[in-house]
Amino acid sequence: MIKSSFRRALLGSISLCLLLAPLSHAQGLAQNLTQWPHIDSAIKPDAAMEAKIARMVSQMTLRQKIGQMTQAEIKAVTPDDIRKNYIGSVLNGGGSWPYMMKHATLKDWVAMSDGFYDASLKTDMKTKVPLLWGTDAVHGHGNVIGATLFPHNIGLGAANDPALIKEIGAATGKAVRATGINWVFAPTLAVVEDQRWGRTYEGFSSDPLLVRDYAKAYVEGMQGDFSKAGNVVATAKHYIGDGGTDNGKDQGLNRSSEADLMNIHAQGYYGALGAGVQTVMASYSSWTDGATGKAYGKMHGNEYLLTDVLKNKMGFDGFVISDWNAVSQLPGCLNYHCPQAINAGIDMMMVPLEWDKFIEATVGDVESGAIPQSRIDDAVTRILRVKMRAGIWGQRPSANPYAGKMSAIQARDLARRAVSESLVLLKNKGVLPLKKGAKILVVGKSADNLGNQTGGWTITWQGTDNANADFPHADSLLSGIKAEAGAANVTYAATGEGVDVSQFDVVIAVIGETPYAETAGDISNLSHTTRYPEDVKVLQAVAGKDRPVITVFESGRTAYANDLINLSDAFVAAWLPGTEGKGVSDVLFGHKDFKGRLSFDWPSAACPSKAQPLFALGYGLSYAKSGSVGELPVSVPVECQ
Ligand code: GLC
Repeated sequence: MIKSSFRRALLGSISLCLLLAPLSHAQGLAQNLTQWPHIDSAIKPDAAMEAKIARMVSQMTLRQKIGQMTQAEIKAVTPDDIRKNYIGSVLNGGGSWPYMMKHATLKDWVAMSDGFYDASLKTDMKTKVPLLWGTDAVHGHGNVIGATLFPHNIGLGAANDPALIKEIGAATGKAVRATGINWVFAPTLAVVEDQRWGRTYEGFSSDPLLVRDYAKAYVEGMQGDFSKAGNVVATAKHYIGDGGTDNGKDQGLNRSSEADLMNIHAQGYYGALGAGVQTVMASYSSWTDGATGKAYGKMHGNEYLLTDVLKNKMGFDGFVISDWNAVSQLPGCLNYHCPQAINAGIDMMMVPLEWDKFIEATVGDVESGAIPQSRIDDAVTRILRVKMRAGIWGQRPSANPYAGKMSAIQARDLARRAVSESLVLLKNKGVLPLKKGAKILVVGKSADNLGNQTGGWTITWQGTDNANADFPHADSLLSGIKAEAGAANVTYAATGEGVDVSQFDVVIAVIGETPYAETAGDISNLSHTTRYPEDVKVLQAVAGKDRPVITVFESGRTAYANDLINLSDAFVAAWLPGTEGKGVSDVLFGHKDFKGRLSFDWPSAACPSKAQPLFALGYGLSYAKSGSVGELPVSVPVECQ
């Protein structure tokens, strides 16, 4: 077998020319790995550190060890709980803020983090161990009011720019440090195969090699070598095959062959592990080997993939964390009691509320022999190794130079550039770029709606229940258009009904999906109009009135939208752009050209089929490269098989 570093160099050059050229579907370049590769991590073992860890482990009691393996939710634990139970980590889940205050200030966040940190150093352990605080800053620090939010990953994938991803990873690390946090549950490395999946937008692409290159860049930016004040622990998630389940069902069954796991779904992990990622989050999904029919069940109980493959064959020496109460989906397990998962290779348990029961149950499991002491010692060794590599001793949260700094949670120019690079022009009958001085009618529910513009994982878990006032440092697409064209030249009428379109030179319709996250985003077919009939109604109100209609489509996935494209003279896929709406107007008015290329196929039908996509992965027009689309067939979508 070619030495992995040579192969990576070889593939690196191949993927480099791939990235320079329009994206080509990975199948053309699919790897033909026949065995799991060993990945040389950028972060090497350190003998002195290992000796120190071994000494610490030998001096820890069983409860102290299991405390380190426990991650509790901030709303369910106090500093004194941390101290008394040796808890090694906390998290704030989506929509969880200090004291459940949606508008908690940076000061509130940092104060809470100092409290947990100080408590972790007041235990009676021989060597005190500070704790890690993990959060889902998956498109910037989405939990915090005032933070800059980047385009979700589907848009970043369209930008096709690993250097940009590295900058975003670094900016996100600084942002979470502003709130006293030192661990981010990102990047998501799903290779998304069915866009009916509710988490499609958390994925970069259906192209495994793009995911691999992005994984490397993101981890290098966010974690680096932990030498920068903005570096934090990153997480490769959700291991493995979360994007390849039947019909895109969230937490469903992936029936890839092992070869396809190796060559498609694992590519992101090759990039992330190579860059030194220190944590991996297990997937809720299950795996049945499509080649042999062997059913391995839920990933959280899959010792073969978690331990034999990830840790032993690929050489991952960080730690594996479970997902939110995911172990309860294993036969015979509860949220807080699942020896099978720990024996399979879960090192830290995300047991948000019932952490105390977890500690008691797991102590019992070790005492009964259900969990070998050696497994506990290995898990704690891994956790201490990551904490030492991250250098969290002596890093009281408020002492970080970014702590409490509004400037650290904002990166508006970077995000604005990312928005511009993410836009994909699918149709343009010579109506773009817009001209200065044009009288513009703006329609559509999403033109002035920062909630729709930012999508899920934004302030709240689902990204719902947010008003524009919750985004004090943001620009809607409408405000971007007004800033460009002059407010006096812009009229906004959400539904477009009853407006005399002839009074205007051009219409811009901003439509698309409304926010969702995880399973709530699962759909049965890709027809946009089936789910959002209001959008085609808006276009019908303004099209065919002898004025060009430019549609800007905000979504967490590509969609069957032939009816919408037919009613548009120009059609822009804007994905979920985040807080910087001016990144859209920069391109619509020609200050920047369209650079984005589809990182997923754009479907020609409402149900996944073998039919040719309407636009293939890698497609995208520009001002330099025009192209229009003829009248498209419109079929009433049926329920997909
Ligand atoms: C969620 C998600 C995972 C996230 C975790 C903590 O259920 O699956 O991506 O990191 O819980 O919020």
